[in-house]
Amino acid sequence: MQVFICKNNEDIASAVTDEITALLREKPNAVLGLPTGSTPQSTYRMLVNRFLAGKISFKEVRTINMDEYVGLDCTHPQSFRYFMEENLFKHVNLNPENIVFFNGLAKDAAQECQRYDQLLDSLGGIDLQLAGIGSNGHVAFNEPASEFSGKSHISELTLETREANKRFFHSLSEVPVAAFTQGMGQIIAAKKIIMIATGIPKADAIYRMIYGDITPQLPASLLQKASNVSVYVDQILANRIQQQYGVHL
Ligand code: PGA
Repeated sequence: MQVFICKNNEDIASAVTDEITALLREKPNAVLGLPTGSTPQSTYRMLVNRFLAGKISFKEVRTINMDEYVGLDCTHPQSFRYFMEENLFKHVNLNPENIVFFNGLAKDAAQECQRYDQLLDSLGGIDLQLAGIGSNGHVAFNEPASEFSGKSHISELTLETREANKRFFHSLSEVPVAAFTQGMGQIIAAKKIIMIATGIPKADAIYRMIYGDITPQLPASLLQKASNVSVYVDQILANRIQQQYGVHL
């Protein structure tokens, strides 16, 4: 894994936007794997600005999002589809037909996962998977578990994850208890992965992701098996790892 330490999330976003811009110039119909969350928001804003400045086009780009809450309609303000529409999709020239997403309201979960897996396969591989990490080491909604998941599935959310996400809802009871998620096997199959993380609460997970044992108790540790991973962290997170573990990233 290649680690890059940036001053703050704005600098991370700028570097990641540069990487995505370079990819889209080289391959205009690239497949982008996309996450939601607070961390990628700045990157999406910069991508939109770069599109508005005429520097990149999403005309032929294909996107596949990593996860979606079970039980939320795509128009629900806390659904991940809504987040993506607001933060990226509606501002750029993406063809809606080129967007792959879980349907949070799907009645038959197994069928929905099969549909998602087939669409993912039909894309011919993810060129660039952008990913965040939970403080418990989850990637997408692959929570700590007894084994790694290969393909997409429904994940029961841990209390820690629901607590972390309750800031977007009125109360914890409103946070869905389950989500559709891409499997870890599918995530590490991406041709390139960019992991972004900021702040003290993510330091331990990032340290264990890079230096720890590969264990489903920390799903992100499987990224050690991926062929091309760049990790972008902010200075605060890097300092914390140095203080806590004596390791310079
Ligand atoms: P965050 O979420 O960017 O909102 O911290 C990341 C994640 O939980 O994967």
